[in-house]
Amino acid sequence: MSWRTPHSVRRPRVMLGTPHGGLGRTYGARTRAYRDPVTREEVQAHHVRIRGLRPDTDYLYMAVHDGATPEPGTFRTAPRGRRPLTFTSFGDQSTPQVNKPMPTDRITLWTQDNYGSRFAGDTTTAVEPIAPLFHLMNGDLCYAQLSGNPTRVWRDWFINNSRSMRNRPWMPAAGNHENEAGNGPIGYHAFQTYFDVPRNGCDDRVNPYGFCSFDVDPGRRGGRTTMRVTYHAVTGPGGATRPVDTFVLERPRSDDRR
Ligand SMILES: [Fe+2]
Repeated sequence: MSWRTPHSVRRPRVMLGTPHGGLGRTYGARTRAYRDPVTREEVQAHHVRIRGLRPDTDYLYMAVHDGATPEPGTFRTAPRGRRPLTFTSFGDQSTPQVNKPMPTDRITLWTQDNYGSRFAGDTTTAVEPIAPLFHLMNGDLCYAQLSGNPTRVWRDWFINNSRSMRNRPWMPAAGNHENEAGNGPIGYHAFQTYFDVPRNGCDDRVNPYGFCSFDVDPGRRGGRTTMRVTYHAVTGPGGATRPVDTFVLERPRSDDRR
């Protein structure tokens, strides 16, 4: 679980339980921060990893810190095994809020400098009636990179989406528009602060930053599933990438076991 606060807080933590059992367990959070190179504002995000959850189960939680008013959220874990499930997915969302003043002769109009539109709110509204098990956020989240006020755009993005994220996981992938000039060694310091995504298993000293692409062939029943993995290094703050390694994983399909 990840959340942000507008300033430093004491003892950020998650209280977790079930609708019937109450909030029985507390998990301390780890805090990450970055200073935005444009606004010079410091941003704080808090992360908790929770293991050992039961499958197909409703959980209740509160993300709090000392002095905060607790607000509850819920989520449901995935079923075990090969069971049908529903997920939603989109990228290139941006934000619905107007965030940039544009003075004219008589009045000040408000516009957006991050590819925003009101439809960025409609997409989130459309997710909730579907109630997916999770939402995949396919890169290019809020386009803060284009804005004169990146921290505000990130804030707007969380304000728009928290009404869904608090009820189901939104799982983000970094896009090229998460690459912010001057923000960390490869430009992804905002994304790396807000999100605690799973490691990609790579410990490459020459290319410490990168991502994997996966080409999966599920195979036929009775056959084998193959997955070609390619590691792409992110080579600098401009967002350039280069494939540096590739290998193939293969094994019998698990539904072939009798
Ligand atoms: Fe895009």
